Amino acid sequence: MSKNITSDAVPGRTGFPDRYGAWALVAGASEGIGAAFAHALAQRGMNLVLVARRKALLDKLATDVRSRYGVESMCIDGDLGVPEFIEKLKDTVADLDLGMVVYNAAYAPVGDFAEVDPSGLMKVIDVNVRGPVMLLRWVLPRMIARKRGAAILMSSLAGNQGTPRIAAYAASKAFNRVLAEGLWYELKGRGIDVISCFAGAVRTPGYADALGKDAPGTLDPGVVVEKTLLALGRRPLVVPGFVNLAAYWIMGRLLPRSTAIGIMAGSTDDLVPSDRTKG
Ligand SMILES: NC(=O)c1ccc[n+]([C@@H]2O[C@H](COP(=O)([O-])OP(=O)(O)OC[C@H]3O[C@@H](n4cnc5c(N)ncnc54)[C@H](OP(=O)(O)O)[C@@H]3O)[C@@H](O)[C@H]2O)c1
Repeated sequence: MSKNITSDAVPGRTGFPDRYGAWALVAGASEGIGAAFAHALAQRGMNLVLVARRKALLDKLATDVRSRYGVESMCIDGDLGVPEFIEKLKDTVADLDLGMVVYNAAYAPVGDFAEVDPSGLMKVIDVNVRGPVMLLRWVLPRMIARKRGAAILMSSLAGNQGTPRIAAYAASKAFNRVLAEGLWYELKGRGIDVISCFAGAVRTPGYADALGKDAPGTLDPGVVVEKTLLALGRRPLVVPGFVNLAAYWIMGRLLPRSTAIGIMAGSTDDLVPSDRTKG
C-alpha cells in the first residue's frame, strides 16, 4: 500500500467534499471508467482511495491526480472478490471521512453459461455482487450517522434483460441496478445519494479486449462519468448517451422480452474471451 499526501490547495472547489465528505473510494480504479471517476472526483476536490489489483497503475494514477488536482490519495491493491481483502480495506480506511463509494470493478466471463468454468461464475458473484454488498453494508451506516454520503454502482445495459454469452455478468448488473434503486429510496431523506449507471458500450481497455471495435453509441469513459455525477442526487438510475437511452426504452419497455433477449444474443456473438473474460 502506498499513501501520497499533498497540501497543495486548489481554490474555488466546493460542493462534493462539503456535500458528501472529504474522501471518495473508487473500487476498480486502475483504468477505464474507474480511472475516469478518480480524475473527475479529484477535480471536484475529493481525496481518493484507489483500489484495484494492479499496484503500478494505481500508483501512477495517484501521482497524476495529486499533481493535477492537489488532492490526497491512497492506493490499496488487492482483489475485491476476496472477502478478506474487503475486511482489510475497511480497516485501512476506517478513520477517513469517507463520503463516497464508487463500485466499478466487475468480472465478465464470456461464453455459454453451461460451458463457463464454475470458478469464473463464482467470481462474478464475488466481485460483482458480494463486493458491493460487503462494502455498502459497512459504509452506509457510517454515512447515515454523518447524515451525508453517496454511493455509485456501475451497472450495464446488459442487465436490462437476459444477455446470452454473458448471462451471469448481465444478471449481476441487474442486481446492482435494483440494489441501487432500493437504497436510493431508503436513503434519499437521510442526506445520502445513491445511483446506478446503466452504461452501454464504453471505450475502455476491458471493452477493447472483449470486442475490439465500437458498437453503436459507444462513449468515452469521461462522458459516462460526468453524466453519472450530474445525475447523482437527482434520480436512482442514469443511462448515459442518447443511443443508449433509446436502447434502454426500446429493449426494456417496447419490445417483448424474448425479442430483446434475441437482439442481445446478436450483439454478444462477436465477444472474444480474453485473459480478463475467460471463465
Ligand atoms: N466498458 C464497457 O463497455 C462497459 C459497459 C457497460 C458497463 N460497464 C461497467 O463499467 C465498469 C467498468 O468497466 P471497464 O470497462 O472500465 O472495466 P475494466 O477495463 O475491466 O476495468 C475494471 C476496473 O476494475 C478493476 N478490477 C477488476 N476486477 C477487480 C478485482 N477482482 N479486484 C479489484 N479490482 C478489480 C480493474 O483493475 P485491475 O485489473 O488492476 O484489478 C479496473 O481498474 C464495470 O462495472 C462494467 O460492468 C462497462
